[in-house]
Amino acid sequence: MTMKILVVGGGGREHAIAMALSRNSDVDLYAVMAQQNPGIAKLCRKFSIGKETDVAAVTRFAQQNSLDYAIIGPEAPLEAGVVDSLEKAGIPCVGPTRAAARLETDKAFCREMMEAHGIAGCPRYRAFHAAEDAISFLKGYPGDLAIKPVGLTGGKGVRIVGEHVDRKGAEEYIRSLQGGVVLEERLIGEEFTLQAFSDGKNIIPMPLVQDHKRAYEGDKGPNTGGMGSYSLQDHTLPFVTGSDRKRALDIMQSAVAAMEDAGTPYRGILYGQFMNTRDGPMVIEFNARFGDPEAMNVLSLLETDFLSIMERIVEGTLGNLPVQFSRKATVCKYIVPEGYPESPVTGEPLAIGPYEPAILHYANVEEREGTLYTRSSRTLAFVGLGDTLPLAERIAETAASNVRGRVRHRRDIGTQELLERRISHMRELR
Ligand code: AMP
Ligand code: GLY
Repeated sequence: MTMKILVVGGGGREHAIAMALSRNSDVDLYAVMAQQNPGIAKLCRKFSIGKETDVAAVTRFAQQNSLDYAIIGPEAPLEAGVVDSLEKAGIPCVGPTRAAARLETDKAFCREMMEAHGIAGCPRYRAFHAAEDAISFLKGYPGDLAIKPVGLTGGKGVRIVGEHVDRKGAEEYIRSLQGGVVLEERLIGEEFTLQAFSDGKNIIPMPLVQDHKRAYEGDKGPNTGGMGSYSLQDHTLPFVTGSDRKRALDIMQSAVAAMEDAGTPYRGILYGQFMNTRDGPMVIEFNARFGDPEAMNVLSLLETDFLSIMERIVEGTLGNLPVQFSRKATVCKYIVPEGYPESPVTGEPLAIGPYEPAILHYANVEEREGTLYTRSSRTLAFVGLGDTLPLAERIAETAASNVRGRVRHRRDIGTQELLERRISHMRELR
């Protein structure tokens, strides 16, 4: 029986979701996206271009087309309440309600929830409404701190005192923020991403991934939405032990249990971003959706039919579903406009060269009369799959270097050299 599925969102992550769903020939895809993603458009029976946070318009599109399920890619529509609205209209969703999405959309809520339920991995923190209170706390705090705006910032809002800003810059930054701030201890270690499917009670983990936030090679420059990511054939990372991974998964399971206790069950994709410290994994943040780029790593490996996972999430019967991921390494490299993220060159033509066997994901790119043009955010991404990391890296790197135009990418993502640096950093810490 044909199932009509709505994908909300138009980036690389949503293209990966659309590809995973369309491997099932019973799926008819529909999309709502702010700007036309050429890859998603090609896979869809029908799409609508419009604001993803326009909850009424998204719901109307779903109703008019009698859609069966929806999956929400980005966080902004979750915060706007798109799941609440679609479910009220009888369309079950993979994605949390507005209340459950607070795990991501309100960083003070997230920390308070962890503290109240005694969930491990919560750094020491303080939440402030008034900038002046935060600044006087900062003045009296001897160590380094992470400054986090309470609300959504597209992954670009955190400033580490002593790394991104000095103390003077930190005060100015806090003063510039609206809507509250969380200050927390600076964690030292190696970051990793653990994503899981959640039906409100049960969670099923996906392979571990490491993302690269910084704009330039060697982890230099400003934070971005993520420049690329890799995962290994055994689905773990060499600087994360079995017990680290178990602790991270237990933390995620506890967060899901806490949300259920609070009467706001968490259904959808739960993304845990962890700092693996000397004392084990600590929670940097939870996200209420797949990571972008991390979705492209894990969904390229997913062997189980994605539609049946969606159905189990919605029914609350994920518990004993065997979910399989292919035992390969993946490397994802984003192509971004020159000047991204601070002053990206937009409207510049680019040409994709030979790229196979890499998998091409379109993101924030315009296609006009057969030519691609940059927009202001990440342009497109290539994923290489291989039996080992170096093989996967070669595939992604070759595809990325064959792109012509005023764009760039990070050549170091997925290289053995970078992996060795992560491993030796962890060895120094432990
Ligand atoms: P977020 O927007 O929460 O994903 O944070 C963006 C980046 O800031 C993370 O990927 C980390 O590199 C860094 N970060 C956030 N919180 C902390 C912390 N408490 N200690 C150290 N680094 C952090
Ligand atoms: N890759 C980080 C994020 O999706 O938030």
